[in-house]
Amino acid sequence: MNTSAVAQATASVHAFTQEARDAIYHAIFSRRDVRGQFLPTPVPDEVLSRILTAAHHAPSVGFMQPWNFLVVRSQGTKHRVHDAFAKAHAEAAGMFEGDKRAVYQKLKLEGIIESPIGICITCDRERTGPVVVGRTHMKTMDLYSSVCAVQNLWLAARAEGLGVGWVSIFHQADLQEALGIPKGITPIAYLCVGYVSHFYDKPELETAGWLPRLPMEDLVYFEQWGQRDDQQPLIAHLRRDQAAAQRGREAIA
Ligand SMILES: Cc1cc2nc3c(=O)[nH]c(=O)nc-3n(C[C@H](O)[C@H](O)[C@H](O)COP(=O)(O)O)c2cc1C
Repeated sequence: MNTSAVAQATASVHAFTQEARDAIYHAIFSRRDVRGQFLPTPVPDEVLSRILTAAHHAPSVGFMQPWNFLVVRSQGTKHRVHDAFAKAHAEAAGMFEGDKRAVYQKLKLEGIIESPIGICITCDRERTGPVVVGRTHMKTMDLYSSVCAVQNLWLAARAEGLGVGWVSIFHQADLQEALGIPKGITPIAYLCVGYVSHFYDKPELETAGWLPRLPMEDLVYFEQWGQRDDQQPLIAHLRRDQAAAQRGREAIA
């Protein structure tokens, strides 16, 4: 058997069925950051439990599982979080110049009050003591582990028909105070979660003309930083797959 036949045979033993693979890619390509389409429909605990369990099964450096999941349902808490957002949002507008500021001010960047549930995912950097397998030299790996939990939850939620919106426009200390998070714990993501009227087919910031999706071939280097090679067969595949992902999302719309 040549190398590629071996690779194919090995892959097929462990690969999901075509239907299951399609479902995974569908969740990935149709996941959206949701801000404005939340419905008041309650999220059943069994569904919430499934997406939180998906989050808890994320990879983590040294298996330290540094996360907690703070579930917010009360209007009082949501309003405290929203106040923290409003303060930072007003400051943020002042950081953009000219046209960008006008566009920024029109963007809806959170659904804190309207979404039935908020979930703050945190990182306890001391959870398993000062020395962690895999975090000995790159100290931020624990933070990235909690981000992996966010992404697991986000994709599982999409599969459940739930929208998720990540809100990060806060002074960290204000968010910690609003949620009673102690100083030693880092808030990673405040997520607005709920059923939605619809999912947009593409990022709202793309639609608003804020930024386009970058072409994959500009992002993939070979062997050394900055080294592009359009002759690599992989590049042709990337172009095809990006175009297919683009067509797929149009089909979803
Ligand atoms: C770390 C992080 C922080 C983000 N913070 C915000 C935010 O504060 N407000 C917001 O509206 N979207 C926020 N987003 C969502 C991004 O704007 C969104 O992911 C991006 O525009 C691409 O759109 P999509 O998620 O629908 O594909 C955040 C996303 C990430 C990953």
